[in-house]
Amino acid sequence: MKTIIEPFRIKSVEYVKTTTPEERKEILRKAHYNPFLIPAEDVLIDLLTDSGTSAMSAKQWAGILDGDESYAGSKSYFRFEEVTKKIFGFKHIIPVHQGRAAERILFTYLLSDIDKDGRFNNAGKGKFIPSNNHFDTTRANIEFNGAGAVDLVIEEGKQPKIIHPFKGNMDTLKLREFMQKYGAKNIPVCMLTITNNTGGGQPVSMENIREVSKICKEFGIPFFLDACRFAENAYFIKIREKGFEKKSIMEICNEMFSYADGCTMSAKKDAFANIGGFLAMNNDEWYSNCKSLLIITEGYETYGGLAGRDMEAIAQGLEEIIDESYLHYRIHSTKYLGDKMTENGIPIIQPPGGHAIYLDAKAWLPHIPADQFPGQAVVCELYLAGGVRAVEIGSVMFGKYDENGKTIPADMELVRLAIPRRVYTQSHIDFLIEVLCEINDRKDKIKGVKIVEEPKFLRHFTAKFDLLD
Ligand code: F0G
Repeated sequence: MKTIIEPFRIKSVEYVKTTTPEERKEILRKAHYNPFLIPAEDVLIDLLTDSGTSAMSAKQWAGILDGDESYAGSKSYFRFEEVTKKIFGFKHIIPVHQGRAAERILFTYLLSDIDKDGRFNNAGKGKFIPSNNHFDTTRANIEFNGAGAVDLVIEEGKQPKIIHPFKGNMDTLKLREFMQKYGAKNIPVCMLTITNNTGGGQPVSMENIREVSKICKEFGIPFFLDACRFAENAYFIKIREKGFEKKSIMEICNEMFSYADGCTMSAKKDAFANIGGFLAMNNDEWYSNCKSLLIITEGYETYGGLAGRDMEAIAQGLEEIIDESYLHYRIHSTKYLGDKMTENGIPIIQPPGGHAIYLDAKAWLPHIPADQFPGQAVVCELYLAGGVRAVEIGSVMFGKYDENGKTIPADMELVRLAIPRRVYTQSHIDFLIEVLCEINDRKDKIKGVKIVEEPKFLRHFTAKFDLLD
């Protein structure tokens, strides 16, 4: 059968509000043409993020009721610990409220000197942490500690049109050169993001994970995975990498993590949870220091800022996400959207990624220059035409100004259509394709936008725009 079927049925529903085109015009105007400022209630299909937006299963909700809220040693923690150890295999697991908390703890520790009184004194200057591509919060946590976040993804990973099965791979030649230049003294850890969100949700091959691990060992540098979308990455390995066709997802996950010394994880993605995450590692000394940082700001070691019920939801979600029929549906339904867009001449990062489709706004609307933000124009059109919310990943998010106030554009002008897990049905996606095709028919007439107000940092969240005439 060709039809991709959702391997679940719907037990509980949340109604969404439909709005008229006139209402949306007014809502978008009031939101200053920035979808982050639109009340979620006024959105029909919300593709802003796949993070924390999953539909939980009946078993997860049952776990929520059954959560043990004890401060220390709750039964929910032990279940969480058992499941995470089974899949990830690391010796120590530290629960945290979300992925960036794991990053903050790890990088604060690794980029500090600890004095004889046990105080952490920042020593990040002159240090570097390489990855294929760091996600924004990972980069921010490294830079906030004074160190440099370095992206070393393969060249193919930077070209939207090029088809490559593992576009998230690290350039191992560049990594080796980088390590030779800076050495273990200045590189406290090497990361690899699976799948590579910033680069289009593209997977990393087992061969690449193994090779990166080998290079790290050679230089005596610890190796961590940013594991947010580990299960989607494992499924891509199963269907695209020779030798893994017959392996189970659990076996692939066990092998991926066996090459690493630890991982950071946001359970808001591949654990179907609405909140939560963890930091995992093998090194006892690192664990002891990270635990100190955890207890100061997040919470005691058996809850780390989470409620017992959240740990139940994560444990159950992790058991469900490694189910192959779910992953088959997930990866193929994302591909369905990407393929339909391609068939209709709407350019995307090829091939379709795991959690999102990235529309190439520069190629789609070549008449709009970077300083008129083609990606932002597309997100406005998506909302006006169909009540769809997406996010610009281009010169609004990453653009800078030169000394004359001229925009230095980002490398790519993208619009991310992130698909929340188990939330939307095929008819939602078919509707979205119709909306995109309607916009495609009149794309040459779409105009750019201008910024009328912006903060100094992370401007995409709160900047105000106006449409150009
Ligand atoms: N690493 C990656 C690869 C991510 O995609 C994210 C979050 C994080 C770390 C941080 O995790 O949100 O739990 O603190 N990505 C979300 C997104 C926000 O929309 O892509 P967090």
